[in-house]
Amino acid sequence: RTPEGTAGRALAWLVVATLTALATCVCSQQVIHLKLNDSIQLTPAKPSRFISSVVWKYDKNLLAEWVYQSIPVTYYSKFKTRARLDVTTGSLALNNLRVADSGMYSVEVNNQVLALTYMLVVMASVPNPEVQISPPLCNATLDSCTLSCEGSAPDTGPVEYFWRKDNGAWTRGERDLEIANDDDTGAVELFACRMTNPVSVGDSDVAKNPFYRGNNMPLYVSLGVILGANIIFVSSTRGRLKREYTIMTGIPSASNSRA
Ligand SMILES: *[C@@H]1O[C@H](CO)[C@@H](O)[C@H](O)[C@H]1NC(C)=O
Ligand SMILES: *[C@@H]1O[C@H](CO)[C@@H](O)[C@H](O)[C@H]1NC(C)=O
Repeated sequence: RTPEGTAGRALAWLVVATLTALATCVCSQQVIHLKLNDSIQLTPAKPSRFISSVVWKYDKNLLAEWVYQSIPVTYYSKFKTRARLDVTTGSLALNNLRVADSGMYSVEVNNQVLALTYMLVVMASVPNPEVQISPPLCNATLDSCTLSCEGSAPDTGPVEYFWRKDNGAWTRGERDLEIANDDDTGAVELFACRMTNPVSVGDSDVAKNPFYRGNNMPLYVSLGVILGANIIFVSSTRGRLKREYTIMTGIPSASNSRA
């Protein structure tokens, strides 16, 4: 797992979340999910006339204000040092967003309240969770055990859980995953879990399946694998890999079938 990979996935999630918000909003409110400390630029629709006044509000509070030749650009309350207003476009930039900045943002341009408002939802990234097994001494003497995707951080909001068996696909699940001591589970060597919220993804390290039976391969299968590997090795050293492969499997390789 690389930081770039995690950041890439988080960005993908943000894009998906934002597009989903845009696509599902039949009203005139745009929902935007943001990470703690993120910045955002809110740009109102271009008015037909020259802009002579702009007033941004946060819920019902004044955030920024400017009136041509009358009120210089003024910022209010907690946004004093974190807001930037561009009076030529009416665009508002906010920096270092905090969880408490979540809320509804609206703008008046030339004394007209614009129909489109913005709902900002600021949340912390999820941590990388850890797979915990209970009972801790779970082993093949038991019929079942429970894997739990553990990890918490303040202000992540609701999270979703996913589970993965070996290199399989991530499947949506609950925080807890009960595993039975049966043939299906026995074929899985490693479990991993993933935690997500709309702005981030956290993956656990892999955990060994206490019910893994992978080493109980029947003897003739093991011998067959070893023998097969030797045939390939010997034949490839002689440069006759393709023919030997055909003999072994009965499936002609592409070049042989043309010949
Ligand atoms: C957000 O910024 C503050 C101060 O700039 C810093 O202490 C904190 O670690 C940052 N948090 C994240 C999640 O980047
Ligand atoms: C197997 O699991 C049982 C139940 O948790 C425990 O009592 C026992 O000590 C475990 N055995 C080993 C070898 O870990």
